[in-house]
Amino acid sequence: MKSIKQLGDISNRTALVTGGAGYLGYTICETLAECGVRVIIVDNNISAAENCVKKLNSKFDNQHFFISCDLSKKESIDKVVDFAVLHFDSLDILINCASLVGTSDIKGWTTKFDLQEYSTFEKALSINLTSVFYLIQQCQNLMEKSNTPSIINIGSIYGFSGQKLSMYEDSNYLTPAAYSASKGGVIQLTKYLASILSPQIRVNCISPGGIENNHDKKFINKYKAFTPLNRMANREDLKGAIHFFSSDLSSYITGQNLIVDGGWSL
Ligand SMILES: NC(=O)c1ccc[n+]([C@@H]2O[C@H](COP(=O)([O-])OP(=O)(O)OC[C@H]3O[C@@H](n4cnc5c(N)ncnc54)[C@H](O)[C@@H]3O)[C@@H](O)[C@H]2O)c1
Repeated sequence: MKSIKQLGDISNRTALVTGGAGYLGYTICETLAECGVRVIIVDNNISAAENCVKKLNSKFDNQHFFISCDLSKKESIDKVVDFAVLHFDSLDILINCASLVGTSDIKGWTTKFDLQEYSTFEKALSINLTSVFYLIQQCQNLMEKSNTPSIINIGSIYGFSGQKLSMYEDSNYLTPAAYSASKGGVIQLTKYLASILSPQIRVNCISPGGIENNHDKKFINKYKAFTPLNRMANREDLKGAIHFFSSDLSSYITGQNLIVDGGWSL
């Protein structure tokens, strides 16, 4: 029987992380790199991603990579898959973390419902949901060459909860409809693909609650009031879930949505 240490050993695996240059995405990359995983960052923020890869390569062993990709474009995703097929024999871990998030500064997005725009809704769906479907579909063959393939989709509490409007009073922040709808889609896509891709590939979702990132104090206090653990998340709070689903510690778990929200959604 394997020891808990052996089950948790993910060294020498290869992971592709979309949105790996982002706030949470980079923490995910560091978590994996610290465990000896070779990380491929997929992002459209070229300067941020190049910095992230530089940091990974200077802090951790293994060579880490960046591929520039606009996930709203099918041909751009095809190039990522071509790169992965050319350079790697298999893909062990695929983490779909890229997203248009609540703070993204685009027109018709984080505004009142009646001002949210059709084209922005479509764009968000293409990045947050359609790209997840297409990247997984195109990576299936390469992942099936791994002995331990695991897909982790990053959802959100807003993929299954309504809005607590009082939390947003006096703030110019509002969760866009497309964000909630796309994250709900990600959670359901996880369940669908867990059954379709079994028994070869496991597919799970992690749904974080709000992660503190220079929010104003008033908002943080309102958020805390809804949260039994009495704080917003920090990025470290997600590390355990990432390692768990990446490793054989979760080898009999597929199709699940692990909520990491301090009890906010209870
Ligand atoms: N931060 C939170 O409070 C929170 C809470 C719950 C869930 N999440 C989820 O965590 C994930 C990461 O969120 P974050 O806060 O780190 O956001 P972030 O904006 O810092 O990171 C998102 C990353 O995705 C990339 N990206 C956006 N559009 C892209 C495109 N078209 N092509 C390629 N890359 C693209 C961005 O460049 C960025 O690096 C998201 O899926 C988000 O929904 C975040």
